[in-house]
Amino acid sequence: MAATGAVVSVTGVCWEACFQPQRNRRVSATKLQSSSADAVVGFSRKCRVEGATLMSSCSSAVKPSSSSVSSCSSKPQQHHGRRGRAFATMATMAESPVASELEKVGDVLLEVRGLCAVVEATGKEILRGVDLTVRQGEVHAIMGKNGSGKSTLSKVLVGHPDYLVTSGTATYKGENLFDKEPEERSHAGLFLSFQSPVEIPGVSNMDFLRMACNARRSSLGLPEFGPLEFYGFLSPKLAALNMDPSFLDRNVNEGFSGGEKKRNEILQLAVLEADMAILDEIDSGLDVDALRDVAAAVNGLRKSDNAVLMITHYQRLLDYIKPTYVHIMEAGRIVKTGDSSLALQLEAGGYEALKESA
Ligand SMILES: Nc1ncnc2c1ncn2[C@@H]1O[C@H](COP(=O)(O)OP(=O)(O)O)[C@@H](O)[C@H]1O
Ligand SMILES: [Mg+2]
Repeated sequence: MAATGAVVSVTGVCWEACFQPQRNRRVSATKLQSSSADAVVGFSRKCRVEGATLMSSCSSAVKPSSSSVSSCSSKPQQHHGRRGRAFATMATMAESPVASELEKVGDVLLEVRGLCAVVEATGKEILRGVDLTVRQGEVHAIMGKNGSGKSTLSKVLVGHPDYLVTSGTATYKGENLFDKEPEERSHAGLFLSFQSPVEIPGVSNMDFLRMACNARRSSLGLPEFGPLEFYGFLSPKLAALNMDPSFLDRNVNEGFSGGEKKRNEILQLAVLEADMAILDEIDSGLDVDALRDVAAAVNGLRKSDNAVLMITHYQRLLDYIKPTYVHIMEAGRIVKTGDSSLALQLEAGGYEALKESA
């Protein structure tokens, strides 16, 4: 990962670890439960503590295609949370005809319309009118060439501070997602597993997971877990992921292999019991056994009232986690939506074949 910056947050707790030497690092643990704050303030690195979900601002070297026409306004209207105020205009783009023809089962969990976003620091436009509707019980897969904006979409949805929403809307559980701070999104059950999970030196995985879990539980009005109770809650989840308990004593992701980090991301998801899980390339870096474990764990977490949005390049993940819809993203927009056969078509003929069949 190009560690240009990182935000680490867990329901009610967000650690924005500013690795940029030019930025001052600071800790503002206002949102932390007092018991959890100790663990955070105990970081060997000073961090800025703020919002929700694990985020990392890893930059990709690949540029998106510049061929598509932007449908976005150039003036930023909306930020990643209340810090950036101002509501977006309603997008006028129609829902994908394929998606609208297929059966719709559960209630709408997430509805994204005409979403446009830029990199805040440079104004570079990345998202150019994303439309997406996710209902309870569904699994959506987003595929697309490198640099098409898949990770940016996921980070914008959880409120990553690197991006500014310029137009469009995102409604989650009927509420304006962009009116919520990152930690509020997490409390509401939105979870992002990062393409490149960040390491958090000085914070044990166990403390991190318990803190995250308790922050979510208290936001749901549930009693917090004590250490022993939490271990009982965690053990079966750890076993389901074939993770050695020794991972709990290690610092979050520190020295973990790529596959171990991905398992750890899913462990976080299992602990948080999120309603809407966004999994960004959860399959990357996994060997066959790890892929099976991770997929089985994700499948085990699926319920009729939650949903999964998976970003992937490969059919092999979709062999294990069957998607309700497959979307193709190109130059910051979803340009094609279909069922699982779309991924098979892609596997067989590449992106060019999809263009020809459009
Ligand atoms: N924080 C950022 N600063 C500068 N460029 C960025 C940033 N985030 C994303 N980009 C650029 O936006 C484009 C889309 O990136 P990304 O969403 O990571 O693509 P994908 O996940 O589809 O491979 C890339 O060209 C990438 O370099
Ligand atoms: Mg990506």
